[in-house]
Amino acid sequence: MSPSKSDEIKASALELIGNTPIVALDRLYQGPGRILAKCEFMNPGGSIKCRSALYMIQTARKNGDLKPGSPVVEVTSGNQGCGLAVVCAVLGHPLTLTMSKGNSVQRAIHMEALGAKCVRVPQVEGTYGKVTLADVEVAESEGLRIVEETGAFLVNQFHNDANVTSHYESTGPEIWRQTGGHVDAFIATVGTAGTFTGTSKFLKEMNPELQSFVVEPEGSEPIKGAPITKVCHLLQGSGYGAVPSLFKFEYMDGTISVTDEEAIYYKKLVGEKEGLYVGYTSGANVAAAVKLLNSGKLPKNAWVVTMLNDTGLKYTPVPEELTK
Ligand SMILES: Cc1ncc(COP(=O)(O)O)c(C=O)c1O
Repeated sequence: MSPSKSDEIKASALELIGNTPIVALDRLYQGPGRILAKCEFMNPGGSIKCRSALYMIQTARKNGDLKPGSPVVEVTSGNQGCGLAVVCAVLGHPLTLTMSKGNSVQRAIHMEALGAKCVRVPQVEGTYGKVTLADVEVAESEGLRIVEETGAFLVNQFHNDANVTSHYESTGPEIWRQTGGHVDAFIATVGTAGTFTGTSKFLKEMNPELQSFVVEPEGSEPIKGAPITKVCHLLQGSGYGAVPSLFKFEYMDGTISVTDEEAIYYKKLVGEKEGLYVGYTSGANVAAAVKLLNSGKLPKNAWVVTMLNDTGLKYTPVPEELTK
C-alpha cells in the first residue's frame, strides 16, 4: 500500500527541522546505565541551531519586528548562521552573517550555498579552529556596524528568549516522548545556553528528580565558577568563558569538564563504534555522559540523554589558504 502523499511530502525545508531521532550509544558505552543521543546533525543546516533559527525568525515575523522580505543580520560561530540560512532562504529574507575567521570555513561555504552572505572577521586572539570571546566580540562589532548601516533585523541569539523557547517547546518534549519519560539526566554544552536552559526547564518540569549537567571545556569554566586559565579550546560554538544571559543556574545540578583530548577521542569513537560522524561538542557531550555514568552520582541503571550537536563534515581539514 502506498503511503498518502500528504504524509510523505514536506511543504518545505522548515518541516525538516527538529523531530530528530534519538540513538542509544550501546556499542560505545555498554553500561551500567545507558547513553541516548539526539541526532541534531540531521537538521537541514547540519546542526541543532536550526531549531532556534526557526523560532527566532517566526517570532520576529509574528511580532512585526521582521517584515516579509526584510533583511536579517546575525553574529554566529557558523551553526546559527547555517540554520538561519535555511530559514531565510525558504521565507525569502536576505541574510548577512558575521563570523570569526577561526570558525570552520565549511560553515561559511554552507551559508553562502543557501544564498546568505558571510563576512569572515579576522581573529584577534585565537587560532583557526579555536575561537575566543575576544574573537567573537570583533565579529559582533562588525555585525552591529552592518545593522547600523542597513537597518536590518538583528537576530541576537545570545539575548533572544525565542532561542530558549525553541528548546522548551521542541527538544525537551521530543526527548520526553522518545524515552517514554525514562530520562534520569540531561547533559549539554553551553554557547548561548538556549539548548541547556530550554531543554532542562521542560524536562525538570516533567520529572523534578531529573539532573541536568553543563559541559565546559577544561580551563574555561565560568559556570563552574572557576578562574579562566585556558581561552583556546576545540569546542567551537560553546565555552566562551562567560556565563551567557540566557543561562539559568536554577536548572543546573552540576558541571562536567572535558579536555580537548577527550572531545577528540569520543568524537572519533562515536564515528567508529556508532557510525555517526559528528563534531567536537558532540564528542564532549558523550565524554561527559561517560564520566557522569562512571561517577556514581546517578542510579546504577540511569538513562542519560545528550545531544550530537552538529555534523563532523563541518570540521574536515581544508587547504591552509582557506584558514587565513
Ligand atoms: C556545535 C555546537 N555545539 C553546541 C552549541 C551550543 O548551543 P547553544 O547556543 O544552544 O548553547 C553550539 C552553538 O552554536 C554549536 O554550534
